[in-house]
Amino acid sequence: MSGKLPQELTLSGLREGRASVAVVTGAGIDSEAGLPTFRGDKGYYEDEEATYLASVDALKAEPSRQWHWYLKRFVSYHDTHPAHSHFALAELEAELGEKFLGIITQNVSGLHRKAGSQKVYEIHGSIQEMRNLKTGEQQTLPETWVESPPGDEELISWRPHVCFFGESYDCFPLPEAMEVCNSCDILLVIGTSGVVHTPVLLSESAQRSGAVVVNINPHPGEVDKISDMNFRGSAAEYFQESVL
Ligand code: OAD
Repeated sequence: MSGKLPQELTLSGLREGRASVAVVTGAGIDSEAGLPTFRGDKGYYEDEEATYLASVDALKAEPSRQWHWYLKRFVSYHDTHPAHSHFALAELEAELGEKFLGIITQNVSGLHRKAGSQKVYEIHGSIQEMRNLKTGEQQTLPETWVESPPGDEELISWRPHVCFFGESYDCFPLPEAMEVCNSCDILLVIGTSGVVHTPVLLSESAQRSGAVVVNINPHPGEVDKISDMNFRGSAAEYFQESVL
C-alpha cells in the first residue's frame, strides 16, 4: 500500500507513540552521505570487476587484490560523514530508549555508529573490521592504515570482516537481527532494493510476529510486496520533519 503515512508511522508519531521500533537499512541511506549504492545508475555493480572483488571467488584466487579494493573503500568511508538520516535514527534511539530495539544494517560503512547509534547489527560486517583466517579473531583496522596502507605481509593472515558473495551469514549477527525484527511493533525498512533477499525475509518474519512494516524508498523494489505501507520517498524526506 502506497500513499500518505498514518500519523503513528511518521517520525513524530514514533516519537510520541508507545510502539517499539526496529529498523533495517540498506545502501539508499548511505547514498545520502555520498556513498554509491550497489545497483542502479552509478552503483558499484555497474562495474563487473567490483562484483567479482566482493566475492568469495576473489578471496580464494586473488586475496591481495581484493584486500586493496576493500582498503580503498576503508579510506574513502573514513572521510565520509553520516547524513541527516543517520543522525535522525541515532536521535530516535536516544529518545525511545528501551522501545528502540535496534538498527539492522546491510551497510558495511559504519555510518550508523559514527552518527551515534548504539544498537547496531551489522549483518554484512564492517569495513573497519578484519577477521583472522585461521582463528576467526576479529580486529579493528588500525587508524594508521588510512594514511599509510599496509603491505601484503601484514594482511596475509587476515581478510576483511564483510560478507562476500557466495558466503553464508555464519559469522554475522543474523539470528539476533531476526529476534529484533520479531519483537518490534513497527519495522522501518529504509533504502534497500531487497535483491539480496535478507530484508524481505526479516520483514516477513516481523510481519508474522505482528509488526507493521513500513518501506521507505523512492523507487519500487522487492520490499514493496510484503510491506504494509510504502513511503515512496527518500530517507531524508521521511526524516525531514526533524530538520530544524
Ligand atoms: P541496492 O543498491 O541494491 O539498493 C539501494 C536501494 O536504495 C534502492 O532500492 C534505491 O531505490 C534506494 N534508495 C536510493 N536512494 C535512497 C534514499 N535517499 N532513501 C531511501 N532509499 C534510497 O543496495 P542494498 O539493497 O542495500 O551486500 O544491497 C544489499 C546488498 O547487496 C549489500 O549489502 C551488498 C550487496 O551485495 C554485500 O556486500 C554482502
